[in-house]
Amino acid sequence: MTSVQLASNTQPLYSPISPNGQLPWWHHAIIYQIYPRSFQDTNGDGVGDLRGIQQRLPYLQALGIDAIWITPFYRSPMADFGYDVSDYCDIDPIFGTMADFDAMLATAHELGIRVVVDFVPNHSSDQHPWFIESRSSRDNPKRDWYIWRDGKDDGQPPNNWEAFFHGSAWTLDPTTDQYYLHLFLDEQPDLNWRNPELAQAMKQVLHFWLQKGVDGFRLDAITTMMKAPDFPDMPPDDPRFQGGLLLRLVDVHNYPDLHPILREFRQIVDSYPNQPILVGETGCADFNELMDFGGREALDEIHLPMNLKTPWFAWDAHVLKQAFTDYYTALSKGAVPSLVLGNHDQGRLASRYGVEHHRNANMLLLTLWGVPTMYYGDELGMLDGLILPEQRQDPFVGHDDYHGLGRDPGRTPMQWDATAYAGFSTVEPWLPVQTTFLSNVAEQEQDPSSTLNFCKRLIELRRSSPALHRGSIQFLETTEPSLLAYQREFEGIRNLIIINFADTSCTLDLSNMTDRVEFWLSSRMDVPTFDTVSSIFIRPYESLLLKLG
Ligand code: GLC
Repeated sequence: MTSVQLASNTQPLYSPISPNGQLPWWHHAIIYQIYPRSFQDTNGDGVGDLRGIQQRLPYLQALGIDAIWITPFYRSPMADFGYDVSDYCDIDPIFGTMADFDAMLATAHELGIRVVVDFVPNHSSDQHPWFIESRSSRDNPKRDWYIWRDGKDDGQPPNNWEAFFHGSAWTLDPTTDQYYLHLFLDEQPDLNWRNPELAQAMKQVLHFWLQKGVDGFRLDAITTMMKAPDFPDMPPDDPRFQGGLLLRLVDVHNYPDLHPILREFRQIVDSYPNQPILVGETGCADFNELMDFGGREALDEIHLPMNLKTPWFAWDAHVLKQAFTDYYTALSKGAVPSLVLGNHDQGRLASRYGVEHHRNANMLLLTLWGVPTMYYGDELGMLDGLILPEQRQDPFVGHDDYHGLGRDPGRTPMQWDATAYAGFSTVEPWLPVQTTFLSNVAEQEQDPSSTLNFCKRLIELRRSSPALHRGSIQFLETTEPSLLAYQREFEGIRNLIIINFADTSCTLDLSNMTDRVEFWLSSRMDVPTFDTVSSIFIRPYESLLLKLG
């Protein structure tokens, strides 16, 4: 048995800026991401819908989250399951009607839950009336709303860029014998934001949803909206050519004239009284670049540029400590960090990190400093689904194709109960229910030691402890490399979080930090026996949330 010392010989990485002031709602919110196709089906077609979300809002209220982010439910031919929008201001019939949306939004607000919707500005569907017009002739008034170029003299595409999904980023349209650009699927032509009429029309979309009362937008693929205007070929021997992806990111990512547009988006949301927010799908080269999307010093662009780097880090105490130290250190003054471990593109925590670690992943997500985004089903410890090749739906066949499985495994239906199709639907769902659906909401609600009850308790403690939702953060030194320990503090109240990444136990000596430890929560959902003076025992793969007296 090792005796482990913890030491706070480093400075806090963040100290509250306005310790006593009221914080904007989103500074301490928990956002819960809903993939609507897979949350709850109410009309028996095997696909989730808006009424289903409305029906399950009391569950989310009981879970304790503050806001939901719903991925696209707009009119769409569903080539990329809603990320190919053919009408930005209408609901796809598969998800219901505008009246269903309004009713869902009203119920959410009655229950104190804010609603963030997706906004897909980089591209529309090729079935959008704008694109149908645009492709009809070279002199159509909407021609310039998309990006059209002649091929090279030898008939090759205008340049050698490859789409993120597969193949050339250009498709030749025979009607006018020109190529259009699409960084994703052929069915997702990129919009030309340098055309003022297009920009105006898209900004009207933001107003449309804000006037309905939404509480913000998650901006899809926002970093690639502006491309190098001369569309240069990428030199084939460029060292940045990675993994077969023939896209030099400097040409399509974080281009300088993206930022005035983000500032305009910000001014638009800021002109509404309910404090709507912008959350960004902000892939980045490093944490320093991530700060660009928030607007650096002025913080006048995206409120929450999502930190999408952490889902890619190994589940390892040292790696994560370093990653979050780097992230917090890079943050602009006054910026609020975003915490993401999983989403509809990444798959599930319990599968990526391992079943023995999934509660600890939730512990990390909900006790670090920042705004956590929880992905539906991760509060149950849902696993990635087994998708047979003939059941595959995801069109993504990009460079690594998510290990050949696409993104379907992390998008299987929510597991509500043990009835057929897990209570998600009355018919065979669009993706098969994960085979372990016997672990579901109904069962876990009854089990005091379930992952669901663990997450609920954790959220309750986070909400009630200012140290956890707005306090400073300080990573601690430990003599045991498989432990991650950090302290959150607010007005003298200190919470200590310890996560054991290993299958071994140890005793922690806290005598140099406190003379009294108060137990708050264990990932085992029991009350461990330990000496409340200053030493505690941590079991294999356990995480502990404590208060230091
Ligand atoms: C974003 C979405 C992803 C979608 C892509 C194209 O990366 O998260 O699901 O396929 O944009 O819209």
